[in-house]
Amino acid sequence: EFSSVFDMNSWYSCVYVTLITGPYMTHLQTPTIKIAPSLLSADFARLGDEVQQLTHAGADLIHIDVMDGHYVPNITIGPAIVKALRPLTPVPFDVHLMVALADAHVEAFIEAGANIISVHPETTPHLQRTLARIRALGAKASVALSPSTSPDALKWVLDDIDMILIMTVNPGFSGQPFLYAQVEKIKQIKKMIQGRAIDIEVDGGMNHETAALVKQAGADILVAGYWVFHTSDYTHNIAELRRS
Ligand code: DX5
Ligand code: ZN
Repeated sequence: EFSSVFDMNSWYSCVYVTLITGPYMTHLQTPTIKIAPSLLSADFARLGDEVQQLTHAGADLIHIDVMDGHYVPNITIGPAIVKALRPLTPVPFDVHLMVALADAHVEAFIEAGANIISVHPETTPHLQRTLARIRALGAKASVALSPSTSPDALKWVLDDIDMILIMTVNPGFSGQPFLYAQVEKIKQIKKMIQGRAIDIEVDGGMNHETAALVKQAGADILVAGYWVFHTSDYTHNIAELRRS
């Protein structure tokens, strides 16, 4: 197994580059960074359209922020909407649960078509059980860390996850300023997972400058709400994040 949340195609090209450039280059050959636009900044009156536009604009994942008004102050998207959007794109759905009781909702979102589910450790009494259940239901499992949550939360579940979502804003809203203290946390977590097929996704306050910072710190996937939607040229905005 190569990667956790993506199919093998991108890895074939990575291996190919490594072969033609020689083994001494191996450490420099990382696959291209993945971009996961967050629907939180989309036009909710035209969500289907927006998903299709993001698909054509080169989104690697569609990031779906689920909020229940308890764990975070905001309320957003439920499984019925995920199900309605599912036939509109082949792009994997990356569902970020920000709900007080994660276990109550995991199954409904996977049935609706979620491919990856991220849960915050504070939202389940038995994190390992929740992660194992996500995998058993056929999705990739991920732990999401709010800015004040320690990387220690990951320590005993590293074999149970395919991805780690590191938040660089407090969960709840798009368009908040990037929290620079989190860059050190990304580096620590990158070290912590060494050798494992776990992707690091960074979520919050992404723009052309912060994207470069988190990429250097070890990010594999960037979530972006505000930045992808801040002009109507999604293709350009996604490409700009990818190459920053
Ligand atoms: C915040 C969400 C993020 C948010 C990011 O709770 O988890 O995914 O949409 O939005 P920006 O990129 O605008 O900070
Ligand atoms: Zn999110």
